[in-house]
Amino acid sequence: MNKVKAVFNGKFDLVENIKISPFSRAYTFSDSVYEVIPFFKSKPIAFSMHLERLKYSSTELAMNIEIEKISSEINNLISSCESNSGYVYYQITRGVDNIRSHMYSNSLEIETFGYVIAHAFASKPLKVMVCEDIRWGRCNIKSTSLLGNVMSMNSAHKDNCDEVIMHKNNILREAGASNLFFIKDNKICTPALSNNILPGITRALLIIELKKIGLDVIEDEFLLSDISNASSAWLTSSTKGLAPIYEITNLKSDLNIDDPMFLKCKEVFEKKFFS
Ligand code: PDD
Repeated sequence: MNKVKAVFNGKFDLVENIKISPFSRAYTFSDSVYEVIPFFKSKPIAFSMHLERLKYSSTELAMNIEIEKISSEINNLISSCESNSGYVYYQITRGVDNIRSHMYSNSLEIETFGYVIAHAFASKPLKVMVCEDIRWGRCNIKSTSLLGNVMSMNSAHKDNCDEVIMHKNNILREAGASNLFFIKDNKICTPALSNNILPGITRALLIIELKKIGLDVIEDEFLLSDISNASSAWLTSSTKGLAPIYEITNLKSDLNIDDPMFLKCKEVFEKKFFS
């Protein structure tokens, strides 16, 4: 793998040269928020929406950020990438404590870290598993505290699954690192946003593009049984794009990755953002 280009506290360097303190609250508490910003033809996709969400996440954690500085660092990382297609990971941490303490001092200096990586946006068909959502109650904050996601996704990985669909008491939420859409009775459906779902940018972009061509998306409360009755289902994220689900290992379903409704959604999305 090529050496990873990064920026830490405003200084551009290779990841291997960056040193962080073990008292960084990213390390002790995952007291950090992050964004994943995709770029294509060397241009960020929906940049302002990603910056807005980063601002929202940091404000919820009472961290002040300099959005212009961050935006310029992300642009510089994109320009430095050997490929014109990829993504930037950007993380903001509350800072470095003198000693580990749940309660932070207000004088801490924000710590920032970003890196860029080449990536091809191929929407690979996915095998998934459904599982109970074991995460905390503020999944609409894009925090690096992702243990619930990590535990569920790795347990699914043992069964050769690529992702999980999470539900609480049979009510569908989202996937481990993406949002969920499906077609039922010829209607495009997705769980409505709440504190329990990350408001995905890809999700929002797809809904906007579909509306433009007169296709409505139903955002509502849906059940596991709705997926069982769906003709197709797919996951959306900044790195996956629109990835169709071909199998759910632990739920009766009959999903067609060539469902014309899904293919239409994919075509509309890719035409707008990846052509
Ligand atoms: N994950 N839901 C969760 C839990 C996510 O982690 C993500 C993205 C999404 C989709 O959001 P977006 O369309 O804005 O990428 C939904 C990123 C890619 C990650 O953690 O790597």
